[in-house]
Amino acid sequence: MKNAHAPYSNFKVGAALLTITGEIFAGCNVENASYGMTNCAERTAIFTAVASLGPKMRIEEIAVINDHNVACSPCGACRQVIYEFGPNAIVHFQGANGPKTLPIADLLPEGFRLSE
Ligand code: THU
Repeated sequence: MKNAHAPYSNFKVGAALLTITGEIFAGCNVENASYGMTNCAERTAIFTAVASLGPKMRIEEIAVINDHNVACSPCGACRQVIYEFGPNAIVHFQGANGPKTLPIADLLPEGFRLSE
């Protein structure tokens, strides 16, 4: 979170994921003057893990925090990316009434997969 590049929103986010093989990867949000180019903390952590371990990397758990200590669940795009690499991942985030832990399938019912 402390490494976030968030000059537009002033909302710094950090994410840490645990792979099924026990490694931990962290990420932060990286914003851009062209706002739509922003990468959320969750996707930064996931893409860093894939870059390090390759495409078989699978997420066991992923946690999200922010520097305002307000409710912040993963956005829709990040839910789909979490699902790609962790269909059974457990997600920890700040809910409206404190910390919450939910399986990704509860946050993203019927997530999209290309059928083989
Ligand atoms: N953001 C994240 O990094 N993760 C979330 O779960 C929610 C939103 C970022 C995107 C943007 O840089 C800032 O928070 C405000 O939306």
